[in-house]
Amino acid sequence: MELPPQPKLFDFHGVSMTNYFTGNWDNVQNFQARPDDILIATYPKAGTTWVSYILDLLYFGQTDPEHQRPIFEKVPFLELLIPLYPPGVEVLDNLTTSPRLIKTHLPVQLLPKSFWEQNCRIVYVARNAKDSAVSYFHFDRMNQTQPEPGDWNNFLQRFMDGKMVFGLWYDHVTGWWEKKQTHSKILYLFYEDMVEYTGRELDRLCSFLGLSPSAEEKERVRGGVQFDTMKKNSMANYSTLPIMDFKICPFMRKGKVGDWMNHFTVAQSEQFDEDYKKKMKNTTVQFRTVV
Ligand code: A3P
Repeated sequence: MELPPQPKLFDFHGVSMTNYFTGNWDNVQNFQARPDDILIATYPKAGTTWVSYILDLLYFGQTDPEHQRPIFEKVPFLELLIPLYPPGVEVLDNLTTSPRLIKTHLPVQLLPKSFWEQNCRIVYVARNAKDSAVSYFHFDRMNQTQPEPGDWNNFLQRFMDGKMVFGLWYDHVTGWWEKKQTHSKILYLFYEDMVEYTGRELDRLCSFLGLSPSAEEKERVRGGVQFDTMKKNSMANYSTLPIMDFKICPFMRKGKVGDWMNHFTVAQSEQFDEDYKKKMKNTTVQFRTVV
């Protein structure tokens, strides 16, 4: 597949973006949410696909006759506009399944207002900054629609400066955290908790969504969304998406907490921590970088 050269970042309402996420902006902003829509919101690489697949199995796992479709088609990406694929908004407008499961990476302040007007349920997933940076680095290496990552040192600096698609990690996770304090329809999950306490987090998710699956169903979902199982599942592992080069790195890469230790030097870690303290000094949200 011929794709244009890797896109350039630019400032968009104070957030770094590429045209693959802003090119359809009027339609994104005017998107009409439905009251039973469920939005999965994340900063990139926080476990979006994991939670998307959990929700897909919970809602449609056994009943949907068209189950055999890749997760990125079943949970459309709201703001996405890439060559050769229909825009996310258009796919969503044409979806007749209920509820619609919708993916977004938008920071809270850029979310289309109809999600608030319709009081939709929102599942936000957050992952610690260091593992997010590492995962994002490998993702940008293998995804042709992302900007060139450059070397790790340079990439890390850019991460700290928010020169990433979807901007500053710090603003994203704290913005959604603040919103959650006053908005009861947001469930704020942590990737690290999902890794360590998968069953408990699955229960929280079900209770938030008003679902009461049987123990058997829950076990089936839990088994289906384990890292190794998802990694082998071509409907969940993105292997059918030609913009990704799995020879460079698979999408389902490691699925671990603490892989940052294999990438950060001691000096990089110290500098990162110092900067982190400053950027996160006004928030109560706490992350774990090991489990
Ligand atoms: P790594 O690159 O650290 O392996 P997103 O879907 O938001 O792009 O996030 C992708 C990250 O979530 C990748 O992290 C991927 O491996 C991890 N991931 C996906 N499914 C997972 C699962 N079932 N268990 C643990 N991690 C998972």
